[in-house]
Amino acid sequence: MDMETLRDLYVEELKDLYSAEKQLVRALGKMAKNASSEELQQAFQNHLAETEGHVERLEEIFESLEASPRGKKCVGMEGLIEEANELLEEDAAEDVVDAGLISKAQHVEHYEMAGYGTVRAWAQLLGEDRHVQLLQQTLDEEMNADKLLTQLAESTINIEAATGEGDEEGEEEQSSSRGRSSRGKSASRGKTGARGGSRGGSRSGSRSGSRSGGSRAKRGSSSRSRSR
Ligand SMILES: [Fe+2]
Repeated sequence: MDMETLRDLYVEELKDLYSAEKQLVRALGKMAKNASSEELQQAFQNHLAETEGHVERLEEIFESLEASPRGKKCVGMEGLIEEANELLEEDAAEDVVDAGLISKAQHVEHYEMAGYGTVRAWAQLLGEDRHVQLLQQTLDEEMNADKLLTQLAESTINIEAATGEGDEEGEEEQSSSRGRSSRGKSASRGKTGARGGSRGGSRSGSRSGSRSGGSRAKRGSSSRSRSR
């Protein structure tokens, strides 16, 4: 399309965001399904509902512009979602996956925040006051989603992924008599880089206890080396 003016660019960027949001609706459902932490599942579900609202706000903007929101594919979002999918293909422990999913989702949120911050500023310049309002509401929700993910990561999920101690309750003693074969994790250790060497020592004997709901299991491979 011809892009002679900021308004042309504005419409193109809005189309890009529309494509991004539509892709994200699908991806968040998958991320929620693959999260092990109930809080994280809930966070993804809540943001999925918000994201559907973001799509609707953009549709309202396009209606007022008498333009179609379609016709552009946001390849940035496509790439971010692809990265999340790659994570889900890893043979990783559940709480490590959860920490990774938070990271992927925060990449998405920041990407969207950049986009919405930009179009909101342009809308202001272009005198589109109603658009400014709508875009600001979405931007606020993206920022809140990002904050919530940070809280979840820092309060529990990163810690569980780092220590591998998740939500077991007083199982440490049992685990040492049971040996470590039940941990279901050793085969993939070290595979995801992010784990690095920082966990040495923290795992010994403390991980094989039953975690509620078996959350230490690998996703989709519960048969493997989980002896309970
Ligand atoms: Fe959004």
